[in-house]
Amino acid sequence: MANLRLSLIFCAIVFAAGVDAGHIKRHRFSTHRGPCLHHTASTRHVTTSVAVTTTHTSSTHTSSTHTSSTHTSSTHTSSTHTSSTHAPTTTASIINIVVPSATKLTTQAAKPLITSLVPNNIKAGIAGGDAFPYLKDHIGWWYDWSPNPSKPGKPIPVPMLWGNGTVDNQDAQRLKAFENLATVPAYVLGYEEPDCPSGEGSAGMSVEDGVAKWESLIAPLRSKGTKLGSPSMCKQIDETWLAEFQDRISTPWDFTAIHINKNSLDGVKEDIDHYLKYGKPIWVTEFACVDGRWPVLQVNFDGAILTRSISSYLKDFEKFVPCTNQQTINNFINEIVPYLEEHPNVYAYAYSNGLGLGDVWPLMNGNSLSESGQTYLAAISKYH
Ligand SMILES: *[C@@H]1O[C@H](CO)[C@@H](O)[C@H](O)[C@H]1NC(C)=O
Repeated sequence: MANLRLSLIFCAIVFAAGVDAGHIKRHRFSTHRGPCLHHTASTRHVTTSVAVTTTHTSSTHTSSTHTSSTHTSSTHTSSTHTSSTHAPTTTASIINIVVPSATKLTTQAAKPLITSLVPNNIKAGIAGGDAFPYLKDHIGWWYDWSPNPSKPGKPIPVPMLWGNGTVDNQDAQRLKAFENLATVPAYVLGYEEPDCPSGEGSAGMSVEDGVAKWESLIAPLRSKGTKLGSPSMCKQIDETWLAEFQDRISTPWDFTAIHINKNSLDGVKEDIDHYLKYGKPIWVTEFACVDGRWPVLQVNFDGAILTRSISSYLKDFEKFVPCTNQQTINNFINEIVPYLEEHPNVYAYAYSNGLGLGDVWPLMNGNSLSESGQTYLAAISKYH
């Protein structure tokens, strides 16, 4: 009984700390983030079971191709990545995903068998159009949070229905433009972070409103051949919106669009693992180097033994500090790009060039590529 009471007290402390830190998040948004830009943050240091071990149940996929390709890669993340592909039953959240195979051994990129979910057969992309002229020859796709992104060039522009149309003028105009889409796009993206309150770059939608717009505006495109991207969550691994949404819609999405704001590869892996539970291929529609979660001290009283450990973290949206160190950013880019390229369930990814990400992260510096932009260009150029 004493044990129980003690641990309850400690839980209360931990909980209180978490609640309090929620203000940090509120705080951080206020100034910069434009209405078309997003989110929230986090970071996390936990060994993850990479890739949730997609039991390769897909029929199209021949595991031999997959394994050989993953394994021939020699450098970067191969060790973690590899081990995951070999441990077919580790994680609880087993899913049935079409696992892309790999090709081009020279670049070590895992290119999907089902190319239709990889835009132009190039995973790399950008969120935000300003760096487009510098990157267009090396990206497969891009978007700018609007229903009608438009730039001359090969990369596929991906329309988005940003929100409910009731957040502000821009949201209203975007809704109207989406309703009037003249063409059938190859891909569309669902809402921008409906799981966080609107007004800070997130769309802030109830699941009900999300379902209603989905059924009336997005779902009908699927029968015309458009591949549907899920709404993208703000709260990352702490989101609960999407499961409810998935339960209520009658037309499923084709790929899960996710946002990753992390500053370590472990954090990135954890995010991806979380979203694999939805059982679909993944598009990382925004990623950025952001310091997120703070560790919370957990104290356990077990009989006569008192132990302290960092066993939990603030929620994945309660802190948002963009990376400011160029070397940290370069390392992050150089780690995450190969990881996403080689990840069998990631079909596309986009460097987030939105506002609120500090001065060092953005792809552009004035009228030219920043060092971060050059780093990204160099990193994706190895593959495309
Ligand atoms: C979302 O839009 C619908 C109309 O399409 C409206 O009925 C509903 O009230 C809106 N939701 C909010 C929260 O404004």
